[in-house]
Amino acid sequence: MSWTKNEILFATAGKLLRAGRKDVFGEVVTDSSKVRTGSIFVALKGERLDGHRFVAEAVRRGARCVIVHRRPARAVKNAAVIKVSDTLKALADLAHYRRQKFAPKVVAITGSNGKTTTKEMLAAILEEAFLNGASLRGKVLKTEGNFNNLVGLPLTLLRLRRDHRVAVVELGTNHPGEIQRLAQIADPDLAIITSVAPAHLEGLTSMAGVAREKGALYRNVRADGAIAVNLDDPWVRRLGRRFKGEKITYGKRGNVSAESWQSLGPKGARFILRVGRARCAIRLNYPGQHNVVNAVGAAALAHNLGVSLTAIRRGLGRARPMAMRMQIEEWQGVGIINDAYNANPASIEAAVKTLAEIKGQGERIAVLGDMFELGRQSRQQHLKLGKRIAQYRLSALYLLGAETTEQMRKGALRGGMPAEKIFVGKDHSDLARQLRRRVRRGDWLLLKGSRGMAMEKIVQKLKGRR
Ligand SMILES: Nc1ncnc2c1ncn2[C@@H]1O[C@H](COP(=O)(O)OP(=O)(O)OP(=O)(O)O)[C@@H](O)[C@H]1O
Ligand SMILES: [Mg+2]
Repeated sequence: MSWTKNEILFATAGKLLRAGRKDVFGEVVTDSSKVRTGSIFVALKGERLDGHRFVAEAVRRGARCVIVHRRPARAVKNAAVIKVSDTLKALADLAHYRRQKFAPKVVAITGSNGKTTTKEMLAAILEEAFLNGASLRGKVLKTEGNFNNLVGLPLTLLRLRRDHRVAVVELGTNHPGEIQRLAQIADPDLAIITSVAPAHLEGLTSMAGVAREKGALYRNVRADGAIAVNLDDPWVRRLGRRFKGEKITYGKRGNVSAESWQSLGPKGARFILRVGRARCAIRLNYPGQHNVVNAVGAAALAHNLGVSLTAIRRGLGRARPMAMRMQIEEWQGVGIINDAYNANPASIEAAVKTLAEIKGQGERIAVLGDMFELGRQSRQQHLKLGKRIAQYRLSALYLLGAETTEQMRKGALRGGMPAEKIFVGKDHSDLARQLRRRVRRGDWLLLKGSRGMAMEKIVQKLKGRR
């Protein structure tokens, strides 16, 4: 989709420093290595790199328009130069402009846990759906992976095409004000807060801080828009109460709910989805009851958009876990739940519960790494989680990292887990060595920790040798 120079100037309120040779340009790019002939290069200043240093390279690669907040040191030939006050804001402005121009239904998803999963499930449902008689297949834009911040969201919306009917976008935060800003960019017609749980406490301070931050999404829904409210989450319920527009509730007492949940262990789950008075059997490829909650949330959103139960059933049946999110692997007859993508107390407990519920012979072993970004509550949260984990009566706990090996271990002991079931590792290789000696066919391992702990390395090391 092309941009005219006038559109860019209008959307960004920028100043034309140099006219260049062209008036029409191609896609917006922030990574100079991705520039193609005709691209618009936006010079972002990141934590490590400053895009302003790559302006000349971008133009050499074919950029015909560059957007900067500092005058380029060297003269830029062959390209239009537009100066703005802040290039990050300009990127957002362009994304917002495109969102308004093509006017798809925008569904925004935030929450402490389950954003990406809910987003993938909803997108899969929409691909199966018909709206006003027309199929949505190929007409659904979704956030790729985890592109949920002030760079990722605009880049997602900038991929919008005229024929996209719905955009499903993920909004993430680790400090106050971010969701508000992201919501203003996305201007959602429909929004969901999947959960409010202790995560990113470093930036958001307390649970009330987390709730206030997530609540900004409901506050920034379009006037004629709607919200989905998880009645089983007390914080979300409270946030939903303040919303004056249309609401769709889900959870035990909600308009949309799950009945007769049946775990299929690592293979997933079966349940009856109830929407108002209608019912429909669902087969889910995601293990764990927490993923049934995500599925019900996705179904509530789809229902609000006018999607049939048949499409919801088909879409949920098709959706599959993404890499390192409850991903099932196997190594020499040992089952592995690779959930190493990220972690906070609620998501670790959900995963441990899933592990403990797997039926059959063999041991159930959790291999856990530190949870980051918990700020001053870090020690206490690790301790508390250790105590809670003890109740699931796992065969063993293998720990890596300063907080888990100290605090979580202490908590597990206090919760009644015998000391001989708790092991600590010096590093990934050490833990892999210990596990290799222990595990047998039929056992199940869960790997989880914050992204910085890279707990998936243990799987790689296990699979790499022997
Ligand atoms: N509803 C839920 N409640 C608790 N834990 C959950 C829930 N949904 C997912 N999880 C856990 O969180 C992990 C990450 O899920 P997902 O990627 O969907 O979350 P996210 O909110 O997108 O995370 P991030 O903030 O890292 O983008 C899952 O693998 C699972 O362990
Ligand atoms: Mg995510």
